[in-house]
Amino acid sequence: MTERFTLVINGVAAVFQLDPDRTLLEQLTEFGINQRRACRNGVCQICDAELLAGTVFQRYPRAELTAPTMFYLCTSYPKSDLRIRLIRAVIAE
Ligand code: FES
Repeated sequence: MTERFTLVINGVAAVFQLDPDRTLLEQLTEFGINQRRACRNGVCQICDAELLAGTVFQRYPRAELTAPTMFYLCTSYPKSDLRIRLIRAVIAE
């Protein structure tokens, strides 16, 4: 069974379960969070977010990133429990 990680989003009461094999952007969409996006390949930079705690693997630009840092939701996969701050997102109530 694949290990799951938890996701805490600043300003959101719910705690989400993350699949380490899928991007943060894909999973946020399923959680009902309307994150702005365009290219989905790490180029346009519109999906940037702040990593406040934890580690992600970012496919492009390729890097393993540990908080505190900025990262792209569309190319990043969780590598640990995470806390993030979204910048350009609408969260459904
Ligand atoms: S959607 Fe363009 S960098 Fe993520």
